[in-house]
Amino acid sequence: MERLKAAVVGMGFIGAAHVEALRRVPYVDVVAIADSFGAAEKAQKLGVPAGYADYRQMMDEVKPDCVHVCTPNHMHKEVVMAAFERGINVICEKPMAMNAQEAQEMVDAAKKNGLIGALNFHNRYYPIPHQMRRMVMNGELGDVFFVEGGYLQDWLQYKTDFSWKILADKCGKTRATADLGSHWIDLAEYVTGQKVKEVFAEFKTIYPTRTQMTEEGPKEVPIDTEDFSCIILRFDGGAVGTAAFSAVFSGKKNQTVLRVAGTKESLEWDNEKVNDLLIGRRSEPNMLLTKDPALVDPATASVISYPGGHAEGFPDAFKQNFTAIYGAIRGEVPANPFATFEDGLHIMNIVDKLYESACSGKWITV
Ligand SMILES: NC(=O)c1ccc[n+]([C@@H]2O[C@H](COP(=O)([O-])OP(=O)(O)OC[C@H]3O[C@@H](n4cnc5c(N)ncnc54)[C@H](O)[C@@H]3O)[C@@H](O)[C@H]2O)c1
Repeated sequence: MERLKAAVVGMGFIGAAHVEALRRVPYVDVVAIADSFGAAEKAQKLGVPAGYADYRQMMDEVKPDCVHVCTPNHMHKEVVMAAFERGINVICEKPMAMNAQEAQEMVDAAKKNGLIGALNFHNRYYPIPHQMRRMVMNGELGDVFFVEGGYLQDWLQYKTDFSWKILADKCGKTRATADLGSHWIDLAEYVTGQKVKEVFAEFKTIYPTRTQMTEEGPKEVPIDTEDFSCIILRFDGGAVGTAAFSAVFSGKKNQTVLRVAGTKESLEWDNEKVNDLLIGRRSEPNMLLTKDPALVDPATASVISYPGGHAEGFPDAFKQNFTAIYGAIRGEVPANPFATFEDGLHIMNIVDKLYESACSGKWITV
């Protein structure tokens, strides 16, 4: 079996998660990482053979088959373009870019060079959302008319919480919507098979300034992105969606909830009970389906690695997503699709339109 070489650029929280997950794809070798800070130490800590401060030098010297882009958002396009120019496939973190225009350029470059550009919308590869999509496709829900939920965290609860992730010049002009909402909106479209066509949004910035600790002491920094995002969506298949996104919601560490209502049944997934699917019924008792390869659609069984009763969560979803994408590099087609750069561009378009709606107070067509 041909082995493939992977390299990761940006070795913060998620870069390390990429390295770990890649090690579980049997025919992939993580050959190098790049980071502008402490690359050699980071490589050594993770047992990766080479650590580079300059990602271009890394690409030229190790010639990976695929580069994982795990830098802050404002760097995504630059690293992606450098990879495509060198004939290297890309898996990029979300949100894909700073805006739809950048995302369009990235899509064009992937097409021009005939390379795979994939997004790490890893929620698609948890067993339960994978199964939800199969159930909608099989008609078990009837007509899907309502999608509801959101994505909540609490790491920005206090005025003193600070990160590049709250500054528009690093994260893009929306924060909660692009960072958290992009995951949820992609998941809602993936499960329902319907595409968002019109959007409405209300944003709120709870702290107009935040306190950044600097070497000179605390500094008050004006905040130009939203702490909270409430949205309404109209889908092309007739469904309506509502969702809330925020990292200022005390007690919610990292909760994604997706509820889907159809004319026959409803479905509910809450990633705090990651292996459970609640199937809602009117005239029969509700059902709780707990992840078990013997009890799900055969396509979903293919993305489950352990028997029932053995939980599969965040690192496993990364492993399954990367397995699907590296499979595509080898010419295979996954049962359920992974997110491509076209999907990432579509989500960036929605995010831009949600921003426009929040500014104008109007419904906006995507
Ligand atoms: N899929 C998910 O669930 C998920 C979760 C968290 C973060 N993310 C995304 O991953 C990306 C990174 O987020 P994070 O939480 O890991 O951030 P982070 O701040 O922890 O890590 C970013 C890393 O990039 C490095 N970096 C910055 N500039 C660089 C450059 N020019 N060259 C090489 N390295 C550079 C930094 O030194 C740092 O190590 C973001 O786009 C974020 O939205 C996705």
